[in-house]
Amino acid sequence: MSEKILDIKNLKVIFPASSNVIRAVEGIDLTVDKGQCVAIVGESGCGKSVTSMAIMRLLETPPALIQTDALTFDGKELTALSQKEMQNIRGRDISLIFQDALTALNPVMTIGHQLDEVYIRHEKLKKKQAKCKSVESLRLVGVPDPERRYHDYPHQLSGGLRQRVLIAMAFALNPKLMIADEPTTALDVTIQAQVLDLLKIMQKAHKTSLILITHDLSVVSYMADVVYIMYAGKIVEKSPLKPLLRAPLHPYTEGLLASVPGLSGTNGRFIQIPDAVPDPANKPEGCYFHPRCRYCTEQCKTQKPRLTEAGHGRLVRCWYPLGRKEEV
Ligand SMILES: Nc1ncnc2c1ncn2[C@@H]1O[C@H](COP(=O)(O)OP(=O)(O)OP(=O)(O)O)[C@@H](O)[C@H]1O
Ligand SMILES: [Mg+2]
Repeated sequence: MSEKILDIKNLKVIFPASSNVIRAVEGIDLTVDKGQCVAIVGESGCGKSVTSMAIMRLLETPPALIQTDALTFDGKELTALSQKEMQNIRGRDISLIFQDALTALNPVMTIGHQLDEVYIRHEKLKKKQAKCKSVESLRLVGVPDPERRYHDYPHQLSGGLRQRVLIAMAFALNPKLMIADEPTTALDVTIQAQVLDLLKIMQKAHKTSLILITHDLSVVSYMADVVYIMYAGKIVEKSPLKPLLRAPLHPYTEGLLASVPGLSGTNGRFIQIPDAVPDPANKPEGCYFHPRCRYCTEQCKTQKPRLTEAGHGRLVRCWYPLGRKEEV
């Protein structure tokens, strides 16, 4: 049996604004097994980053209000830890990679110095040993001429190289779990593929579990074992990768797939999801996706669907999941 590294039950994140409460995350269950790559996919504003920040306990409370039945990482209940204990876990056991490497790196420190700091702080290495490790890790992530680049400041590197440095930093301590939030969105397409390749190689080599957050299903098709599709703060579909690509169950997943040329699952039909995600402070009645759904019925407008088992490890939150649609 596979071992769980992360187990989240019923995670809710609320921002009680003065006018209208924002329910950013509405009761999410999410499991990551050891060595697994789990993707969270959805359009902008659906709650992906808030979920990852809540896992890392990086959200300011207040304003955020976090509730959860379980947030278990490697057998430890994260919500029960002090901020100090949590700080030890961040960086060492759980690493984060953000979209924007330029803001994640310190602009007034050389990249070598920043890498050294990680080894000195967490592994208690001497400066000289840390430097050897830093140069070696830059080499490992494909930074050319690492002895020279070690002395560069972040602004002296291209976006792709900066992201490689961030990946080196994130893997420096061999974390058990890595959360990569849109790690390649800021890069152009060819560089994206190289950085994803690197992330995949590093993940496999270190046997790290990875949560990959993205709005782009083509990135997922390359990396993920299991995919969670998120819409307006809720999981609307969960599935192992292949069946999701072959036969999406939720109309939203179908739309996301159709927006990526060359991915299967829509039988070549072109489907565009109209309009945009709902205002988080003013979500629609019934199924949150119903105003954009081309299969919407009267029931969908008034009744909220539950996340239900759909066989083969799949879950879907829809009154009329695809595949059964033709019978309706
Ligand atoms: N501090 C905050 N106060 C109020 N609302 C917030 C706060 N942080 C996030 N939100 C809201 O929570 C919702 C989810 O935001 P989140 O950043 O998780 O989206 P996302 O799925 O990561 O989007 P993107 O793809 O654009 O990164 C959004 O509607 C956002 O406006
Ligand atoms: Mg985000």
